[in-house]
Amino acid sequence: MCNNKEVIIIAGVGNLGKYLVEELAADKGYDVVVLSRKKSQWLAERQVDVQITDYTEESILAILDSTNCKALVSFLNPPGNLYLNIHKSLLNACVRSRTCKHFIPSEWIGNSEDYPLLPRFYGETREPFRKLLRDSSIQWTLFNGGWLMDYFLPQEKTHMPPIPAEFPVDPNNSRACIRGTGDELQSWTSARDIARAVVVLLGVHEWDTVTYVAGEWSTFNEAVKRIELFQGQPLETTYKSKDKILEFINNNDQLELSHDMEIALVEEWMISGAAACPREKTLLQKEKYFKSVKFFSLQEMLQHAEKVDFV
Ligand SMILES: NC(=O)c1ccc[n+]([C@@H]2O[C@H](COP(=O)([O-])OP(=O)(O)OC[C@H]3O[C@@H](n4cnc5c(N)ncnc54)[C@H](OP(=O)(O)O)[C@@H]3O)[C@@H](O)[C@H]2O)c1
Repeated sequence: MCNNKEVIIIAGVGNLGKYLVEELAADKGYDVVVLSRKKSQWLAERQVDVQITDYTEESILAILDSTNCKALVSFLNPPGNLYLNIHKSLLNACVRSRTCKHFIPSEWIGNSEDYPLLPRFYGETREPFRKLLRDSSIQWTLFNGGWLMDYFLPQEKTHMPPIPAEFPVDPNNSRACIRGTGDELQSWTSARDIARAVVVLLGVHEWDTVTYVAGEWSTFNEAVKRIELFQGQPLETTYKSKDKILEFINNNDQLELSHDMEIALVEEWMISGAAACPREKTLLQKEKYFKSVKFFSLQEMLQHAEKVDFV
């Protein structure tokens, strides 16, 4: 690429990564290259340069160096050991690359410092990789925004597919299933605001090892009230207790990460406080990095969603 734009490589544009593609494309300072195992119609329609890879270190290194990229951002979401193996390849390729010395691995979770082992499948996939990052010589950060606020939106307004069995509020069917008491602290951030904040951070040379953003701290009980007021009708609400969640986890084999077990482990995460980004550090980082970013509260995002086709 023969221009003065900086090249950012995004690995694994499935759902969340689409927001970063869009926000980087809107910023005149960057060119985007996507790493993927396959071509995608969504990326082709936007004329994004897709480089096909098998996610081996050599294949990634060749792409990093041929594009002169400045930073690598991963949204890869493979299961189990594959997460660790692929992220090791990404990290080693950055270490060996001539130009790519900034790396954001695929975390996109809540308070990973105080709760490094939750959800437990992050404990098994992300935590071993965080240990490798701590010994590496490049700039890296774990970028966390709590829940994606987009799950409160109707399906057609977001790139995030609905997860009604997992996220307590199901806006597409006017239902809620509150886990625990519903008063446990959460934080949430809209996916687009996360992408905007990542674009800002890509312009900064020195990174903290964990970066937090938050649109709002709240609880699911508060969110249900807010949505009921907003929609002018009650949500059909049920409850699932902490005892019931833990009983399921303790009576089943976690090693076999079935869909039901994955949901139970996310439930454990959401009632533990781990989904909420730590307030003091998040606000300090907002002051340090993200003064220019306006983060939506839930109310603001819902109001905005009424005026636009897509949030
Ligand atoms: N905080 C939250 O509320 C929240 C919500 C959703 C997701 N997340 C996190 O955000 C990240 C991205 O999520 P997402 O929903 O955007 O992910 P996704 O669409 O499910 O997957 C992203 C990419 O991962 C790659 N991938 C998936 N399975 C793979 C496999 N078996 N082998 C190799 N590559 C594989 C694919 O890349 P290619 O096919 O292009 O190679 C895919 O496009 C994840 O870390 C996820 O845990 C957080």
